[in-house]
Amino acid sequence: MSEKKIAVLGLGYVGLPLALELSLTFSVKGFDINNNRINQLIKGIDSTLEVDPKKLINQQNNKKLLITKSQKDLKDCNIFIATVPTPIDSKKKPDFTALLNVCKVIGPLLKKKDIVVFESTVFPGATEEICGPELEKYSNKLKCGEDFFLGYSPERVNPGDKIHTIDKINKVISGQNAKVEKELFEIYSKLTEGKVFLAKSIKVAEAAKVIENSQRDINIAFINEVSKICNKINISTYDVLEASLTKWNFLNFEPGLVGGHCIGVDPYYLAEKANSLKIAPQVILSGRQTNDQMVEFIGKQISKKIKKKANILFLGITFKEDVPDLRNSKSLELIKFLKKQKHKVIIYDPFIEKLKDFQSLDFSKKKKAIYDSVILSVPHNYFLKELKKEFLPLLKPNGVFFDIKGKFRNDFSENYWSL
Ligand SMILES: NC(=O)c1ccc[n+]([C@@H]2O[C@H](COP(=O)([O-])OP(=O)(O)OC[C@H]3O[C@@H](n4cnc5c(N)ncnc54)[C@H](O)[C@@H]3O)[C@@H](O)[C@H]2O)c1
Repeated sequence: MSEKKIAVLGLGYVGLPLALELSLTFSVKGFDINNNRINQLIKGIDSTLEVDPKKLINQQNNKKLLITKSQKDLKDCNIFIATVPTPIDSKKKPDFTALLNVCKVIGPLLKKKDIVVFESTVFPGATEEICGPELEKYSNKLKCGEDFFLGYSPERVNPGDKIHTIDKINKVISGQNAKVEKELFEIYSKLTEGKVFLAKSIKVAEAAKVIENSQRDINIAFINEVSKICNKINISTYDVLEASLTKWNFLNFEPGLVGGHCIGVDPYYLAEKANSLKIAPQVILSGRQTNDQMVEFIGKQISKKIKKKANILFLGITFKEDVPDLRNSKSLELIKFLKKQKHKVIIYDPFIEKLKDFQSLDFSKKKKAIYDSVILSVPHNYFLKELKKEFLPLLKPNGVFFDIKGKFRNDFSENYWSL
């Protein structure tokens, strides 16, 4: 292929770091349908907090990266990388709307020899069986596999994790034929100093990604079940794990709420594939069910230990630590559960300014010990540093501190609960 001109479509948690990093080597156009997101990125504002704003501005000023909402700007590109969301619908079935829509954007732009790579998490077969025909449909009578080609490279970025970053982690790639594989190897070897692993086929790469996250979900579900047992016999799950971890092959998984858009979602894609093959996804779905039930389990433990209509300070509402991402946040579900039990819940999260329908802690008011309970749901680094000084003094004498993830379990013995 002559000069590689890359379009990245979908500039979210996955697409933006990818576009920015690729722009250090290639000419890159970053496209998104969200006007607000585009306007912010042009100004160097990244609400996901995943990239360095200076680098984002520099790459645009150096004309290495164009951020655009115009399909026309992508017409000279020859590699298209789609990083759009793949959520589930209200029936917990894969929702391919964004994936189909991005094919509608890319299809008319395709020329002979172009390559379309999908990074969105899907089930094995989706790229070739769903996206390929969709791209053909909107193209100028081009045939997939003859005129233009497909690739798949699953994404592993871990938002909030500043160690396993996109430029360091191993990347799996796959392509429709050897030429595509070679092209993708050249591109992705420039992206990461980690290993670029060529999967045997697109289906293999798709399956590899979806089982990575499903495996995590199932392992967490097992530990969540263990945590219910530990709770009944009044021992800390974390103390048990600490002991078990002294064995060389014990796997390190912790109990907790599983939210977000990956671990709590991807198993449903695998389950869908299993069902279509008439294989009952019993283990996969029981893991999902166990993890989803943790909201109610934790909610009931809290309610049992505090008075009726308690005044609660709830800390951390994003779906996990150190990210501003609220998608599928189980902490929000837990708050709803507690409110249904008639407790009054005041929230605080340093990553979220204010949230409609939720009452936030007002720092300007004089701090008083007015809370019957403090719940540390998402232990952002900030809370680990400031909790004792800033938030626990707001607890009434004999108030209960619920430290869901057991971060302070060695510091408290009374009026304290963790998984
Ligand atoms: N966030 C993660 O931690 C992570 C990790 C690995 C894999 N993934 C997978 O990567 C994919 C993207 O996830 P994300 O977290 O970056 O999502 P995101 O919601 O943060 O970003 C997706 C972006 O795509 C844009 N978009 C939607 N439809 C579009 C279209 N038709 N054309 C162009 N842009 C469009 C949205 O406006 C949004 O900005 C998903 O399949 C997800 O499962 C995510």
